Amino acid sequence: MTPETPQEPTPQEPTPQEPTPQEPTPHDLPPSAELSTHGVGPWPGVWPDDPRYDPELLRHGDTRNVIDRYRYWRMEAVVADLDEHRHPFHVAIENWQHDMNIGSIVRSANAFAADTVHIIGRRRWNKRGAMVTDRYQHVLHHDDVQAFVAWARGAGLPIVAVDNVPGSVLIETYALPRECVLLFGQEGPGLSPAALEAADVVVEISQFGSTRSINASAAAAVAMHAWILQHVPFS
Ligand SMILES: C[S@@+](CC[C@H](N)C(=O)[O-])C[C@H]1O[C@@H](n2cnc3c(N)ncnc32)[C@H](O)[C@@H]1O
Repeated sequence: MTPETPQEPTPQEPTPQEPTPQEPTPHDLPPSAELSTHGVGPWPGVWPDDPRYDPELLRHGDTRNVIDRYRYWRMEAVVADLDEHRHPFHVAIENWQHDMNIGSIVRSANAFAADTVHIIGRRRWNKRGAMVTDRYQHVLHHDDVQAFVAWARGAGLPIVAVDNVPGSVLIETYALPRECVLLFGQEGPGLSPAALEAADVVVEISQFGSTRSINASAAAAVAMHAWILQHVPFS
């Protein structure tokens, strides 16, 4: 489900981040992050008569970071298929310091089929950890917390901030709303005062050791999985 941009005047309309333009075929490219996975060679035998398949990939093989179901599929076809079953939770990340964790958080958002990823603050973010999963993800940019909050209110989504700060409640015992946006802070400073102020609730992941906090992307994966455990039937 692609979020409707709220119509009421917002300080700054969120602008969808254009997916990286379709680059030439893998055959023409030097190895990149996405080409590090175990792939498949050219399609053996008669090609499938199905518009979802990409002739270039059928011809040259496919070593992208995609599950077997999507092998040889066009990127648009993968995105369209994912859109059929994305979960109704969103992921938002504050990006004031070009945090290395953002890429990994986007990769986890893809793995757990979050509806959309929201980057708050700087438009440019470090994509290294994303393993190119951002291509298959809807990514929206908001200039600041105010613009993000205006979007969330317009979309009717409660903001669940995730951080271990005074006043936070335990994620292990908190009923996460089915439709919500999980908001994560930066590795160093954590969530900004404006983000904590705007949150409908702040949840923390219980810790049992000596460290003051968990790595931001690890915490994001734990929180997303907590949503999965509460809302996805496994039996
Ligand atoms: C490394 S933490 C830094 C802030 C943390 N509050 C601190 O004082 O060390 C960066 C981000 O990771 C997430 N995080 C890390 N540990 C967490 C925990 N135990 N519970 C919830 N979120 C956590 C939060 O989103 C936080 O903003």
